[in-house]
Amino acid sequence: MSAAATLVVRNIGELFTGDPVRGVVHDAAVAAHGATIVYAGPQPGLRDVAVGPDAVEVDARGMAVVPGFVDAHTHIVWLGDRGDEYARRAEGVSYEDIAAAGGGIMATVRATQAGSVAELVAAARARAARMLRLGTTTVEVKSGYGMKHDAEVRQLEAAAALTADADLPDVVATYLPLHAAPPQEQSREEFVAGVCDEGVRRAAPLARFVDAFCDAGAYTVEECERLFLAAREAGLRAKLHAEQRSHTGATLLAARVGAVSADHLEHATDEGMRALASSGTVGVILPGASLVLGGPPPPGRRLLDAGAGVAVATDCNPGTCYSESMPLMVSLAVALAGLAPHQALTAATHGGAAALALGDRGVLREGMRCDLCILESPHWIDVAYHLGANPVGTVIRAGLLVTP
Ligand code: NIG
Ligand code: FE
Repeated sequence: MSAAATLVVRNIGELFTGDPVRGVVHDAAVAAHGATIVYAGPQPGLRDVAVGPDAVEVDARGMAVVPGFVDAHTHIVWLGDRGDEYARRAEGVSYEDIAAAGGGIMATVRATQAGSVAELVAAARARAARMLRLGTTTVEVKSGYGMKHDAEVRQLEAAAALTADADLPDVVATYLPLHAAPPQEQSREEFVAGVCDEGVRRAAPLARFVDAFCDAGAYTVEECERLFLAAREAGLRAKLHAEQRSHTGATLLAARVGAVSADHLEHATDEGMRALASSGTVGVILPGASLVLGGPPPPGRRLLDAGAGVAVATDCNPGTCYSESMPLMVSLAVALAGLAPHQALTAATHGGAAALALGDRGVLREGMRCDLCILESPHWIDVAYHLGANPVGTVIRAGLLVTP
């Protein structure tokens, strides 16, 4: 028998387990001991669960419960504002033209480089807090607006500061040194060599993954591969911004190096997607960025048809998708990417966990982390169906109530 439960959630109308075998359980309950689920199933089964005298009892009042969202791709540590650029793009100026004129990612780099760790933490904390209220219990956070080693390290230190806060989502940090084009005062070769040496050495203790923007106008397949080899020596696994704006072969690179995920993928070929399926690399679709930038749709259905794992994430950033909302991304994954509602919700929970190589969350089952959302609706499908709303009432993270 498991240890006595310290948390019990009763009267769940629909329990979306995210477990392909168990599916949705009606009239359900969940119990946890500390951070770990000890029971998730039909309510009558609670009879066999020991409940501690001080256990927190939560009445879900017939509402639906879903796993906490795992947002596996974000850039929330930034300063500055690019609302003006958003307006210019609406008038027809392209993302690439703005970048070539020194705006775009470089505009955010200038503002972010000038910030202290405390300023970065304050900006990122506000975004992470909004994410939690929208049901995100784990968030990946990338650097990438530093460009200089010191500024990249400050971004990663800001991400680390968020991990200490139990009232925010759990944070996983990613070092993204190849993002904006190299600075003019340095040759490309010098910049990439510096990143592969000093950059990786200084970032490695602060990050779990390494990432690069492999695209026309950004970095080549060769440059990204060089970074991945250096980072692997330092214990960082690869993720990749792959074929968002053009076809480069980046998806095949992600598969070749055994990356944990390949992200965006709007211009990836079916061959690339099959390669992801073979290497076990999760395809992360970012339907908010696809919507804002235009171009081919996010390839959710194509990834599933190729047999690859799929995650959906916000990409929360000041240029291509200023949104903290995983529920909105689930809706867009259905509307734009061809996923069924249950596939989109699974991609936002279990898929996100797979894209971060986290085997302990994303599914509501005994032994997994107790990260869940009690919705303000009796129906789990409202996460996808109710566009632009916050369907989340109460959030439980690691077995503790973190919102009312
Ligand atoms: O994922 N594509 C590269 N990076 C971000 C955009 C960053 C920005 O525009 O500030 C993305 O879309
Ligand atoms: Fe991104």
